[in-house]
Amino acid sequence: MTKAARGSLLGIEHLEAAEILGLLKLARRMNPAKPRALLKGKRVVLLFYEPSTRTRSSFEVAAKSMGAMTVLIQSSGSSIEKGESLLDTGYTLRAVGADAIVLRHPSAGAPHLMAANIDIAVINAGDGMHEHPSQALLDAYTVLRHKRSFKGLQVAIVGDIYHSRVARSACHLLSKFGARVTLCGPPEFVPEVAATLVPGIRLTRHLEEAVRGADVIMLLRVQKERLAGRKIKLEDYIARYQMTAARLKLAKRDAIVMHPGPIIRGLELTGDVADCPQSVIVQEVANGVPVRMAILARAMGKAR
Ligand code: CP
Repeated sequence: MTKAARGSLLGIEHLEAAEILGLLKLARRMNPAKPRALLKGKRVVLLFYEPSTRTRSSFEVAAKSMGAMTVLIQSSGSSIEKGESLLDTGYTLRAVGADAIVLRHPSAGAPHLMAANIDIAVINAGDGMHEHPSQALLDAYTVLRHKRSFKGLQVAIVGDIYHSRVARSACHLLSKFGARVTLCGPPEFVPEVAATLVPGIRLTRHLEEAVRGADVIMLLRVQKERLAGRKIKLEDYIARYQMTAARLKLAKRDAIVMHPGPIIRGLELTGDVADCPQSVIVQEVANGVPVRMAILARAMGKAR
């Protein structure tokens, strides 16, 4: 495990269950509609090497709702384009007075490298195919708004699990709280080794089997270009794994449908599933704000 500045959030795998519950409890006390000055005078840098809409905007709204100043640095238009290294960028941001860095990067471990070398809190906003801890926390927060507890909950995770940092963080979190996770997709997206990610995980190639009796259906983004040259073609993927209203009927009546976004209607799910009463996709986005308020408050020692 990387030695990191206090308050850093690098992943779910090494977080204690009590820390996760503490963050979720704190998030319940956060109200973005009632700005407070908890982080007045603090500077939060949003350092994004990859595109983002939800994570970036909700961290910014979260920081500003608590009185912090935010600075956005993206690869395009910054000295990253001139070849400045990750650590030199970190040293620069520290020198201008950053109190926390929210980092999204295409390489697994980039936030850990930053946190091991720079003595300010680093928050992983998604690193390569590794982890997306704030997404897992907001998903957990959303599930607990609809279900009493994770214990025994049947969760089907469907789609490109192999490339998904969202799936990896979700599996770590769900397994800590006794949920029963089934991964579903073609071998290109769900290799057999995925079943060893956390103890007790199940794997199936059949969507109907994964969804039958499920309490939570978590759909993952599928990038069409990742199917190029693969055995399974886009039209086969859609035929076998797209979430339709008919397939949703196999789940429990009160099952919820989740997706971290961005969704592609007509690929991972049909438009009527995206917009149905069981879909909590928009709620996930909204819940990102209080959860990220809690993460930032903890990062700056204000998690009381
Ligand atoms: N869920 C998620 O990470 O979305 P963005 O890429 O838009 O931040």
